Order: sequence, then C-alpha cells, then structure tokens
Amino acid sequence: MSEPLRIAIAGLGTVGAGVFQLLAKNGALIARRGGRPLEVVAVAARDRKKDRGVDLAKVAWFDDAAKMAAEADCEVVVELIGGAEGMARRVCETALAKGRHVVTANKALLAHHGTALAASAEAKGLTIAYEAAVAGGIPIIKSIREGLAANRLSRVYGILNGTCNYILTQMRKTGRAFGDVLADAQKLGYAEADPSFDVDGVDAAHKLAILAGVAFGTKIDFAAVHVEGIRRVGAQDIQFARELGFRIKLLGIAELGEGGLMQRVHPCMVPLETPIAHVEDVYNAVVAEGDFVGRVVAEGRGAGAGPTASAVVADIVDIAHGRRPMTFQLPAGELATPKALGIDARRGGYYIRLDVIDRPGVIADVTAALRDEAVSLASMLQRGRAPDERVPVVLVTHDTQEAAMRRALDRIARLGAVLEAPVVIRIESL
Ligand code: NDP
Ligand code: HSE
Repeated sequence: MSEPLRIAIAGLGTVGAGVFQLLAKNGALIARRGGRPLEVVAVAARDRKKDRGVDLAKVAWFDDAAKMAAEADCEVVVELIGGAEGMARRVCETALAKGRHVVTANKALLAHHGTALAASAEAKGLTIAYEAAVAGGIPIIKSIREGLAANRLSRVYGILNGTCNYILTQMRKTGRAFGDVLADAQKLGYAEADPSFDVDGVDAAHKLAILAGVAFGTKIDFAAVHVEGIRRVGAQDIQFARELGFRIKLLGIAELGEGGLMQRVHPCMVPLETPIAHVEDVYNAVVAEGDFVGRVVAEGRGAGAGPTASAVVADIVDIAHGRRPMTFQLPAGELATPKALGIDARRGGYYIRLDVIDRPGVIADVTAALRDEAVSLASMLQRGRAPDERVPVVLVTHDTQEAAMRRALDRIARLGAVLEAPVVIRIESL
C-alpha cells in the first residue's frame, strides 16, 4: 500500500472528535478504499487539557491552529473550528497558501468567502472540500456536482438545519417548550456554538447559499438570502397546522428562473402528503430538480458527530485517491452572477395567525385589508369565544403575491384590535 496521507486537524469538538473516532474504528477499511492509510499527524484546539475521549498520544499538539496549518508535516488540513472569520479563516487561507488541501465543515466560512477560497485553491491546483458543510451526513454536494452534472437545475430546496427540525418535531410530538428542546439539541451536539444561528435561520441560509452555488454554477451570494427563523412559531401554530393538514418545517429554497435567482429560508406549512413533511428530528432532506433527471431526493442525518465525520472523511478519501473535482461545478472565475430576486417576488399561499380582541367588526376590518390587496381567503379558523378578550384567528389564503400580502399585513397589524404582530407562515406546495 502507498504512503499514508498525512492529515492535520484544527478543532477537536463534536465534529473533530467524531472524525478521530471514525478513523480509529474504520481506519483499515478506509485505507483499502482510499488506496492509502489516513494518518492524523497533528491537531490543534484551544484547551490542551480537555478530555475529548480520543487518544492523542502519537499526535503533535499545536496551541496555534494557524501555525499548525503552516508548519505541520501534512498534505491535508481539516478545519473544524467554525465561524466565518478569525482562526477558521486563517487556518484555511494559510493551508492553501502553503500548498495543502483543505477539508472543512464550515458553512459560515464558505457562505461568506467560498468563491474567494475556491479561486485560491484552484489557482494552486489544490482542493477545498466541504461535503460536511451542507446537510451533515447526506452526500449532497457530490450528488449535485458530479451525479447531476448533466442537468440544468431549476430548483434546490430542503430541510437544512437539524437543530430546527429536531425542535419543531419534538414540540409537535411531545408538546415540550422551545427552550427545553433547544437545550437537548445542544447536548446532542447538533447546535452551532451560537445556537441563534440555528433558530434564526442563519445556518440554513449559509447552507442554501452554498447549495445554490453548486447547483446553478453561480457565485455564492449569502447577502441575497431572505432569512427568517423559527422563534415565532408557537405551540398553537403547530396545533393549527395539524388541523389544516400541514406540518411546519424550516425550509431553504433556491430557484433560478428567467428573472433571476431567489434564495429564501423561512418556516413553511408543508402539506402532510409531501415526503418532506415526514422528515423528522435531526434528519435533513434535500430535493434537486433537473431538466433531464426530474426530481431527486436525498435524506439523512443533518447534524451530530457521526454523520458529520462521515462526510468529512469521505472528502479526505477523495483527496487520498487523487480525485480533484471543481469546487462549485465551474472554475471560480466563471461562476455566474444572476440577478437576485427578493422575497416580494414570491407567489404562493399564506397562513396568518392573528391575536385579536374578540368583538364584532374585527374580521370585517381584516378581510377589507385583504380585499383591497386582492388577496383571496381560502379558509378562516377561530378557536374559542371570549367576548372582549384575546383570541387567536387563523387565515389561510389562496396563492397571492408576497408584496400584496405584505401591504395587507402592514394594514392589519395597525388595527387596534390586533394585539401582536401577525405570525405569517408561507404555504409551500412542493
Ligand atoms: P465545537 O464547538 O464542538 O468544536 C469547536 C472546536 O474548535 C473545539 O475543539 C475548540 O477548542 C476549537 N477551537 C475554537 N476556537 C479555536 C481557536 N481559536 N483555535 C483553535 N481551536 C479552536 O464545534 P463543532 O465540532 O460542532 O463544529 C465544528 C464545525 O463543524 C463548525 O464549522 C460547524 O458549523 C460545523 N458543523 C457542525 C456540525 C455538528 O453537528 N456539530 C454539523 C456540520 C457542520 P476547545 O475544544 O479546546 O475549546
Ligand atoms: N447546527 C447545524 C444543524 C449542524 O443543526 O443543522 C449541522 O450543520
């Protein structure tokens, strides 16, 4: 067998320790598959004394991860620190400058600097591989970039954040509160270092921006993603969704059409009969639609040590084999810059929950605002009767333009009997 592929790992948290454990267990099998053994020669993290449950006896320790990227005797640097800036970025840039391949799980870094990092890697004939950055253990980057290379893709969408899917699933199944379930997701190693990135939709937006780049051959444009998280989804919305035949999912959706590229992340009402409605807990699902292949669906665990390590090590095996795919489908300098379409251009149905004072004329005022914007109502639900007290009222609309819906909602929110900002969840018939 050939010489080992020498690897340095920056970051030994959930994912870094997971990579170590995977290599310890499956190392011999992977060596046969990769044609070379994989040997971790150096590691870096902040706290040398922390027990990580892995054997570091034969590995060089660096307190400074950037120094390790520059000086360790390795061919590949694996960046598992996280964050768009700071040490993670320095590690990747230093490794490429020093002629080492990079493997990373860092979607924040790629969403912000992916195009530039790809250009640096390609200029030197190096790889920057990032399968683990999108949808955890699902090999979606390879599937889209290599497996669907013959197609023109028009849409890619899915459940891209395991933490949010876990929270929404557990809230529905157990009735537990948002904060409790989030704490579980953190204990299970699903959440980002700052979990607001998960629950506010930012992590899914990072992944969507990367997916769109790979699917459409476009420059990564994170700033153009419309982002909403799940904080305003309440137990009563989950209950109303059940009554109306929907499940609530945080989806990322990217669509490329004649008019341009729309990228959006927000909670969605998904009809119960669609497969994506049944993707539960930490599972992610990604759907890609191509002109010749039609619809392709991939599902798997989207977060956690094992699934993420699986994707990281698959990238290392590619490097061991000498496989050097283009970072984002086309050379970085040839990636297109389509017009960015805002959320106002969306057309579809809407679920709106209002907290109103229960008194005559309130619904007439609400429906007048909808009528004036030509928004057609499909159904309305009011639970309970509480004269002059607070009651929830749910409206479901037929397909309408987001811009018109927004204007109507602005007017509705200003009505004296409407007590809180309306909760709006878009209905997606996927
Ligand atoms: P953790 O917070 O568990 O681990 C981060 C590691 O980075 C820790 O070992 C920490 O050191 C080390 N670190 C932090 N700052 C520095 C620094 N300045 N210099 C050197 N080391 C540093 O994160 P995860 O393992 O969960 O995530 C790592 C990456 O993988 C992130 O980009 C994340 O988005 C991504 N990812 C995570 C998934 C998951 O399910 N957790 C799934 C897919 C991607 P120390 O331990 O000493 O504090
Ligand atoms: N925090 C992320 C999630 C990790 O929950 O999906 C996987 O990228």
